[in-house]
Amino acid sequence: MHFYILTLFPEMVTNALHTSIIGKAAEKGILSIEAVNIRDFTKDRHQKTDDYPYGGGAGMVMQAQPIYDAYLSVADRIGKRPRTVYLTPQGSTFTQPAAKELAQETDLVFLCGHYEGVDERVLEEIVTDYMSIGDYVLTGGELAAMVVVDAVSRMVPGVLANEASAAMESFEGNLLEYPQYSRPAEWLGKKVPDVLLSGDHKKVELWRREQSILRTKRFRPDLLKKAELTIKEKAVYKVHDKMG
Ligand code: ADE
Repeated sequence: MHFYILTLFPEMVTNALHTSIIGKAAEKGILSIEAVNIRDFTKDRHQKTDDYPYGGGAGMVMQAQPIYDAYLSVADRIGKRPRTVYLTPQGSTFTQPAAKELAQETDLVFLCGHYEGVDERVLEEIVTDYMSIGDYVLTGGELAAMVVVDAVSRMVPGVLANEASAAMESFEGNLLEYPQYSRPAEWLGKKVPDVLLSGDHKKVELWRREQSILRTKRFRPDLLKKAELTIKEKAVYKVHDKMG
């Protein structure tokens, strides 16, 4: 999988994404992350990439030409017009199902905006998906692009050492993950729940399922409404979905 991030701050993106698990996956060649510097494509003799908004108003607007040429440099290289995500608070909210869906692509372009915005005409020309990482405003799209690249990358086969950890984690089946414990069995007077030391896999599985449901009920009741619970679980944990 190849990620191309169109940005005015390439080092911000490459430094962050070439560390830890994602960095290792890039080293192994499972994925690649390339920051494309929009400024390298400006035809302005002062290297300018923004200008005043028509109609007046505060701030500057990123111009269409450098962004379009940066995008074309990627499209020409890969021989197609790739799926292109514009990070904006106006987009649809990025979620785990969206991460899984994007992980099916082989090439993904991300456009990071700055200042007061981006000339609408270039967005119309290249953007296929408008995405937000939540209802708050960042100073630029870079952090949002990094969040999306990280979450999508770990859905790419081979990136996680233990594929099962992705199958059992939070949001799978709209439940949060159960609590985890490691050695020692007692720490600061706090004991690991007995069931986890019992060696009874069936009991452990039931306990974890229960913990997932109780946690989701407590911290994310909105999610629990969408979770797939058995009729018995709904009765035991007093969950009322739309069907009653
Ligand atoms: N750019 C600025 N704020 C953003 C947000 N919340 N999500 C995605 N891109 C953004």
